[in-house]
Amino acid sequence: MATVGESDRTAPDGRRSWPVAAGGLPGGEARWYRRDPLGFVERAAREKGPVFRLPDDGSLCVADPAEALRVLHNEEGHYDEVSDFFHVRGGRLGPRETQVAIGRAARATVRAHLAAHRERLPAVVAELGEVSEWPSAGRAATHRFLAEMLLRPDSPPALRELMARVVGRDVLIRSGGRLARAARLALWARVVRAVTAEVRARRAGRAGPGPGRPGDLLDAVLGSTPPDTPAAQVAQVYLLLFRTSVAPVGHVVAWALLAAATHGVDLAAVPAESAVRESLRLWPVAWLLGRPVHRAHQVGGVRVEPGESVSVCVYLLHRDDRHWPQAARFRPDRWDGPGPRGPYLPFGGGPFTCAGAAVAQTLATGLLAAVTDGARLEVRGGHGRPHVAGIITPPRFQLRRTPTRP
Ligand code: HEM
Repeated sequence: MATVGESDRTAPDGRRSWPVAAGGLPGGEARWYRRDPLGFVERAAREKGPVFRLPDDGSLCVADPAEALRVLHNEEGHYDEVSDFFHVRGGRLGPRETQVAIGRAARATVRAHLAAHRERLPAVVAELGEVSEWPSAGRAATHRFLAEMLLRPDSPPALRELMARVVGRDVLIRSGGRLARAARLALWARVVRAVTAEVRARRAGRAGPGPGRPGDLLDAVLGSTPPDTPAAQVAQVYLLLFRTSVAPVGHVVAWALLAAATHGVDLAAVPAESAVRESLRLWPVAWLLGRPVHRAHQVGGVRVEPGESVSVCVYLLHRDDRHWPQAARFRPDRWDGPGPRGPYLPFGGGPFTCAGAAVAQTLATGLLAAVTDGARLEVRGGHGRPHVAGIITPPRFQLRRTPTRP
């Protein structure tokens, strides 16, 4: 088995540098990382410092605040200037102006829906019943609230049902198990085909949005991509945004409920906005932000080359005790005043910051408030490890919600 060498490197400009794992990457580390990525990075940072290699693809993991901000802001042009978020089969949907236009149109669509229908959130939560299973209940509630924004009511009923099935069967997150994976991939392939057909139908002129008939997320993507963009690519970008609108928002609310129960915080006594912020600090669902290296340079004293990738570890940055007092505790009160804080990056930073950050935060806050308002909450379970595959999914728990008001 290959060994991990440790080498102290000094940056040419004299900045502090850290010991970095060099050379071959042992299979044991890779297995450990696959099994428990968060545990792995926590230990690696303790033992090696805030810059180290990840054992799956060898990308450089960065948990130093100044280095992380430098990577994300990319002022020196060291990284690709096209967002990886728009990854579709066969590459990335570009150019950058198209990506930005899609992000803006998606944000405007979510915002308009929120403004028009916010008062429906309590009814959506009530539909979960007195006992609900989380985090899937969080995704289901988010989907139910956004359903007409995600696909307008005059879309084919079969497609609307298929999308609801995708949410219900947890296809939006990469759950474990080979069989589960095969079934998930098959259902996802079906969804891509169905949405591609819908793109073609809309392009062929089926009645579009109009007065009293607001457009949906698919109209937003169609309206901001050049007309010659392949229908399958439009479908894939739409599905990326569909997934992003449903799963992370549901997970943020789930994390807030679970963390409050674990740390003995009464959510009824805390502004929902602070609880959401704190949930995103302790459990940033997008915990690792990768950047493809465009030009050779140094990060924390380590040289990276084009073709390699640098990953900013938001999870570690948000748990740095030097910048976040009692970092491991769920303390919504830390958002009450100016307070000591480190970089807070649940929505990334720099040119590729989340286009939906503000609307996502508003939606998660509204949903959490609807869960906590006028009810006594009891959480059972949730002791397992989070599931980490792209985004962090909380372990399963049960929520008993007993209304205290008629
Ligand atoms: C709690 C919910 C959400 C979280 C935690 C989240 C997080 C993120 C993060 C961390 C990025 C940056 C990725 C990177 O730097 O590589 C990102 C990008 C993006 N997000 Fe979100 N997001 C959320 C909800 C949404 C929603 C609801 C929308 C839809 C409007 C959205 C649209 C986008 C878009 C379009 C990008 C790409 C931005 C660009 O590259 O120009 N996000 N999101």
